[in-house]
Amino acid sequence: MNLNRPLIGLDIGDSSIKLSVVSKKENKLSLDYAAHIPLSPRNRRSTDQRPLDPEAGDAEAGDRGGASEAEKVISLKSIFKNHAMKKDQIVMNYAGRPPFIRYLKFPVMPENELDEAVRWEAKKLITEPMETRVIDYAVLQKKVEGNQNILEIILVAVDKSDLSEGLGVLWKAGIYPRLMDVNPLALLKVVELNHPAEMNQEIVFIDIGSTKMEVNISREMVLRFTRQIYLGGNGLTRAIMEKKSVSFEDAEILKKEGGFADPETDGAIKGEIDRMVLEVQRSIDYYRTQFREGQISKIILMGGTPLMPGFRDYFETQLDFPVVLENPFSSMTGPAGLLKELNPVSSLWASSVGLALRGKISEAPA
Ligand SMILES: Nc1ncnc2c1ncn2[C@@H]1O[C@H](COP(=O)(O)OP(=O)(O)OP(=O)(O)O)[C@@H](O)[C@H]1O
Ligand SMILES: [Mg+2]
Repeated sequence: MNLNRPLIGLDIGDSSIKLSVVSKKENKLSLDYAAHIPLSPRNRRSTDQRPLDPEAGDAEAGDRGGASEAEKVISLKSIFKNHAMKKDQIVMNYAGRPPFIRYLKFPVMPENELDEAVRWEAKKLITEPMETRVIDYAVLQKKVEGNQNILEIILVAVDKSDLSEGLGVLWKAGIYPRLMDVNPLALLKVVELNHPAEMNQEIVFIDIGSTKMEVNISREMVLRFTRQIYLGGNGLTRAIMEKKSVSFEDAEILKKEGGFADPETDGAIKGEIDRMVLEVQRSIDYYRTQFREGQISKIILMGGTPLMPGFRDYFETQLDFPVVLENPFSSMTGPAGLLKELNPVSSLWASSVGLALRGKISEAPA
């Protein structure tokens, strides 16, 4: 796979598929194409008894309100049928239970020995049976520490069955991705691209989708914390459904167009967002007790849910930090019409752009 060629970032979420094609021309990044294909939620329960923390007991995507596999296959087939794209340049997201991510250091050694050393270390760190995990690693950099040459490694382990499920959907659609990434690391590339000035401080970046929210904290391009919580935009829609006794579709429209405008639903929406804020605050508190340092520069919101009118403002009033809504296309060129159309809703593409940025940013202009 040639990372210098345009890459297709394919983010399959529970409510929609997001795709973006990013290329690099004369050292400038360009968004060549982007697509958003909504999927229909399968389960629109109004009560919510799911565990908040996926690690405390997982729920199937359907239980959380996600689309069916068959629908995802049909949608994927149609995107690639309608648009001529190189199917060999696809980077997809891993959409299963939260990945295990660790940064490790080893003395410089030959590749085969390193392979063994990493696997040995992984066995010690990972509590689940190794045969249920898929493990991968990458050398981030070589550096000198003291008088030793050190290799800095990022180790990622994911659940084998979740991985097969995600790949199965693509294979059924005739798509064979060449690379896969986990969401926190894909989003970190967007942060690296668009917030280089704050890289030496703590940056909190939060992806809030339809069924889940992912809170990440990085410092100096190192992901130091990641946590997934089952709270998302479907919860806001359900709150409106209940208050107004309307269908899921009508509640979605009210949410997207009005946000807090309706006094009848305003309180219920705030209640749902307060639950999200509480989980963010808990995550930050936990991070601070772990690292006992750090100056959080800002909170960056990504995904579709923060697009609700008033969401960012309300979020900011509830937390002590500046809160910004990410535009992953902000430093990109591209067809004027496309960027103009997408900019107002660009945060939806954060994951997809992060996937397509693989191998493209270190030499990109700041
Ligand atoms: N303009 C908007 N205003 C308010 N909410 C919006 C807007 N656009 C999208 N959303 C909401 O964002 C959510 C979808 O966001 P996103 O596409 O990031 O989720 P996903 O990736 O499909 O889901 P997940 O990450 O949970 O698997 C839905 O709840 C949708 O109602
Ligand atoms: Mg998502």
